[in-house]
Amino acid sequence: MDQIIIRGGAPLRGAIPIAGAKNACLTLMPATLLSDEPLTLTNAPRLSDISTMTALLGSLGAEVSSLQEGKVLALSSHDINNHTADYDIVRKMRASILVLGPMLARDGHAVVSLPGGCAIGARPVDLHLKGLEALGAELDLREGYVHAKAPGGLRGATFEFPFVSVGATENILMAATLAKGTTVLKNAAREPEIVDLAACLTKMGARIDGAGTSTITVEGVDRLHGATHPVVTDRIELGTYMLAPAITGGEVELLGGRMDLVASFAEKLDAAGISVTETEGGLRVARANGRVRAVDVVTEPFPGFPTDLQAQMMALLCTAEGVSVLEEKIFENRFMHAPELIRMGAQIDVHGGTATVTGVERLKGAPVMATDLRASVSLILAALAAEGETVVSRVYHLDRGYERVEEKLSACGASIERVKEQ
Ligand code: UD1
Repeated sequence: MDQIIIRGGAPLRGAIPIAGAKNACLTLMPATLLSDEPLTLTNAPRLSDISTMTALLGSLGAEVSSLQEGKVLALSSHDINNHTADYDIVRKMRASILVLGPMLARDGHAVVSLPGGCAIGARPVDLHLKGLEALGAELDLREGYVHAKAPGGLRGATFEFPFVSVGATENILMAATLAKGTTVLKNAAREPEIVDLAACLTKMGARIDGAGTSTITVEGVDRLHGATHPVVTDRIELGTYMLAPAITGGEVELLGGRMDLVASFAEKLDAAGISVTETEGGLRVARANGRVRAVDVVTEPFPGFPTDLQAQMMALLCTAEGVSVLEEKIFENRFMHAPELIRMGAQIDVHGGTATVTGVERLKGAPVMATDLRASVSLILAALAAEGETVVSRVYHLDRGYERVEEKLSACGASIERVKEQ
């Protein structure tokens, strides 16, 4: 297994290109199942989660070709010959459940294993299932699999999500494009990845109104056709690299960065004393001399502060002047990075969904373990600012969501390398 070794202390200066969004790409790929014509995705990120979705779609009979070193994905579902998404693939990634809605909508039946993914709380899929039932699906849970049928096709309906779910909104939205009649989704997620999915589906011939607001209306159509669509910028990768100069000092331009994708996050950086400005090519983040200020953070659905940036923000606040309180409202048990940061000298108290961070002047390098995707990159950020050497193990979590981390950071002056574990 690989490890990443970082020698901290160097201020970062330079430019980092931001890739297409993992989470958008993982919902755009299953959209291929809605049509028998080709779907081409450009600006795709090169990540192990994308390879997992490629394998899952391939197991169903879809063809996925990776072109231009993985930046372009050519997908075709003209010949879906298997309607069972097997546990062996689905357990690797929770987003696998996103094949359920499209397969069911197109062919009237699907069997999908209940998913796995990051160990950040219980993360059930009940809302996905309730939404599909509202559209007329008949569901049966047996031996860890969801058996879904819609013999006469799905029917449009009004469904109100009891709370916001990104994945459930995506699944039901895709299914509704081929349902008979009108579907109204209330309390829908408003994440940029939903807007991106709706834009792609619209190019494929879907009739969708209100994506990006909490009410989405879909007029079902008989069939969808092919399309070409660029994956939206990864706002979580963007926010993560915005924190690199914030934590080390220095100045970095995030190429392709967009303020509207990270507005609430940028506000918190501003409150901490970090400057974020728009440039022609993206965003520039700079930190003046001196320590950052403590700020309080509450994670919320978009446009609030994203849970996927909570661990990284905690790394920054570990060295802030004062006491910061981070409240995790989306996932229970999402503070697994805290004990690892404490190994690096951080002062953090976790009580339920709240972490209280008392800033220290300097973190110290230590051997640490990545526990999930965002936790792993928070340790890398902390290590960039720490005194001495940090060795991060279990970096396969990192490879699920960040492409070429070492390359991107070392181009800005970081001392970071990947080695095979001894
Ligand atoms: C997506 C993102 C993930 C991000 C999360 C929240 C992808 C591939 N992943 O995950 O990176 O952290 O949004 O922004 O896009 N829930 C239920 N029942 C359900 C569905 C969700 O109880 O059927 C709960 C979850 O346990 C969680 C909350 O709802 O507490 C929000 O989860 P959701 O928005 O669905 O997250 P994902 O789509 O899984």
